[in-house]
Amino acid sequence: MTDWSVWHSEKAGRVQPSVISEMMYLVKERRALSFTAGEPSVDLFPLDGLKEAFNKAFSDPSVLSYHPDNAGLKELREWIVQWMAEDKLLPPWVSAGNVILTNGSQEGVNLIAEALINPGDVIMTESPSYPEAMGTFRKEGARFAPVLVDKDGPDLNAMEGVLQRERVKCFYTIVNFQNPTGCTTSDDRKARVLELAKSHGFFIIEDDPYRNLRLEGEPTDSYIRMAGSDDRVIYLGSFSKILAPGLRCGWLVAPSSLASKLVELRVSIEISLSALVQRAVYEFLKCTDLKSHLESLRSVYRKRRDALVSALREHAVPLGVRFDVPKGGFFLWGEIPGVENIYELAKFAILEEGVGFIPGKPFYPDGAGPEGSMRLSYAKVSPEEAKEGAVRLSRAIQKFREIEAALSQSGLAQLRK
Ligand SMILES: Cc1ncc(COP(=O)(O)O)c(C=O)c1O
Repeated sequence: MTDWSVWHSEKAGRVQPSVISEMMYLVKERRALSFTAGEPSVDLFPLDGLKEAFNKAFSDPSVLSYHPDNAGLKELREWIVQWMAEDKLLPPWVSAGNVILTNGSQEGVNLIAEALINPGDVIMTESPSYPEAMGTFRKEGARFAPVLVDKDGPDLNAMEGVLQRERVKCFYTIVNFQNPTGCTTSDDRKARVLELAKSHGFFIIEDDPYRNLRLEGEPTDSYIRMAGSDDRVIYLGSFSKILAPGLRCGWLVAPSSLASKLVELRVSIEISLSALVQRAVYEFLKCTDLKSHLESLRSVYRKRRDALVSALREHAVPLGVRFDVPKGGFFLWGEIPGVENIYELAKFAILEEGVGFIPGKPFYPDGAGPEGSMRLSYAKVSPEEAKEGAVRLSRAIQKFREIEAALSQSGLAQLRK
């Protein structure tokens, strides 16, 4: 057998397996209750509307050809500009020419990383942050400068400390209902970060897939709009969380000079994306009352969040579990004190109790977070399942603690022998 690892590129060598994918796979295999996935449940996909939209898209067979517009379907890009402008998210310089359709935010992160990051470049990230984006930066050889977050976003003192020590090239930030902490960056913090970006000369990647899933409070401004004519912000959007992630359809907004480079890169990677999908998404959006679709999503997620919060308060909080309640998005970020190996507990919970969550460690760019941290998603869990899931999770924690205690007793006994 050939040992292909001897031929791995340096890039491939820097890629690590995804813990989120591993847990999602295990949950599916074991048919466990899932607090793992940050995606809508299938009952929330607008199936009828999408079927109709795909039918309409097929009426023009050229959607099955190679798509000559490598930035993506112009009508959809124009629709996105109008939608974002109505939401007051855009500065005046943005037109459809600044929008590139992607097969999801993840591709946007990858295009940006390939275009702009060299080995050794320093990326400032929130800590904790989204592991798959960090994996992409890591693949390009980036170093991370983590900045802790609180409920209003990145800690500015920590950021200033980093900027004194490091020559930062870029700040990657998830502005609304951050994955995993659920925090939202306040506009005051954004203004200050923009000042720092100007004075220290770094650019900002504003990743915003959860904006439209606000369950309470007022919408915030965007970095890209607040920066005005200072075009140092790249914005990433996605239809994954508000339509369906399997569509693989998202977008990025970038200044023209960068956008053309990103499109060249796109061609070198995948020629173009599926015009069929883009046409269908466009037809869907044209014929749908998006406001009421989003309102009904929000009302379901509000119930799911509240059900999980009260089930955890009843069953897990008495075990010392702590968590934050987010104002939107999909995630509760919490901590189980006294656990020595959260990764093993996460596997144990799936295998022994049939309930999955994501262990928190991979969300820390430097792996230096508290051992017991965890992410729980309520996105796919009905209120009834939330109750059952909280009971199972609590049982898993209790049993696992007993096992860890017994192991450490027997380890001590061995040492004393
Ligand atoms: C912060 C963040 N960025 C990007 C993505 C990837 O989304 P997409 O399906 O649009 O690639 C996710 C998905 O969970 C996410 O949480």
